[in-house]
Amino acid sequence: MTLKELHDLTVNMLTAAEVEDSRFDTDCLFEDILKADKTALVLRGNAEVPELDADRLMLAAEKRCGGTPLQYILGEWEFFGRPFYVGEGVLIPRPDTEVLIEKVLEHFSAAGNSAPEICDLCSGSGCIAVTLKKELPKATVHAVELSSEAMPYLIKNIGRHNAGVKIIKGDVTDGRLLENFSDPDDVGEFRKIDCIVSNPPYVTDKEMTELSREVRREPEMALCGGADGLKFYRVISCLWSEILKGGGLIAFEIGFEQGEAVMEILEKNGYENVSVYQDYAGRDRVVTGIKKNG
Ligand SMILES: C[S@@+](CC[C@H](N)C(=O)[O-])C[C@H]1O[C@@H](n2cnc3c(N)ncnc32)[C@H](O)[C@@H]1O
Repeated sequence: MTLKELHDLTVNMLTAAEVEDSRFDTDCLFEDILKADKTALVLRGNAEVPELDADRLMLAAEKRCGGTPLQYILGEWEFFGRPFYVGEGVLIPRPDTEVLIEKVLEHFSAAGNSAPEICDLCSGSGCIAVTLKKELPKATVHAVELSSEAMPYLIKNIGRHNAGVKIIKGDVTDGRLLENFSDPDDVGEFRKIDCIVSNPPYVTDKEMTELSREVRREPEMALCGGADGLKFYRVISCLWSEILKGGGLIAFEIGFEQGEAVMEILEKNGYENVSVYQDYAGRDRVVTGIKKNG
């Protein structure tokens, strides 16, 4: 079969399987597996594809038709201009989360602080923690994650980018994790840090039943935020406030209908200048607040 014939066949297979953007996905699979981009299709469209390569491509196309996310098949995905390993067991980094990164970077740029201490809660692939460390090389960055399935990706992504992020494995709702921030000079007290950032699970129980087949392949633990989706915002803004400096930043990614509710949670838990920001589609996506002094 020629390159062009194989391309047409793959687009048709994916379209028949109701893959949303069948041509884009086909192009990505061709680039990844056959190292053939759009130019190659024009220049070498009539060249025969070796049987083994065609088989590998078909295998990947079948997985995609069965609902496996494209990113899991490729094994990596780009976030804030850097590639991150992804696969079964870890959430795929989303472009919307880049708004969260931008808001944290803007805050520290305005504050003139190039060496903040930051804790990324619910770190998953580590896309937030690693990106912040790469963008603020003098920062100290901690990444907290509970999932044993996500952990290998977090470790590999930190290594891939030589990011020097410190990993804490554990449950962000468990107060004992704060002991990682015990003050060595003041027994019983915590060291205070500059920023808590988190993209926690925020899908409501009802929304969990309505997810697309691709999103359903991502770990439930990365998505489900309880009955109203707000469980993690309540716990994190209260519990982790213990280790945040007065004047320190808390920054959350939110579901686009959760802006008001999360702002209210922050205001109730001692934060001021609480603000909501929109993603590239104009929907509420990030809420930030500043911990009140005293
Ligand atoms: C929405 S994902 C975000 C992943 C990553 N930060 C990102 O933005 O792509 C939420 C992450 O929280 C983790 N998680 C869920 N419950 C947790 C808990 N109780 N403690 C720590 N991590 C948890 C999940 O395993 C998942 O990796």
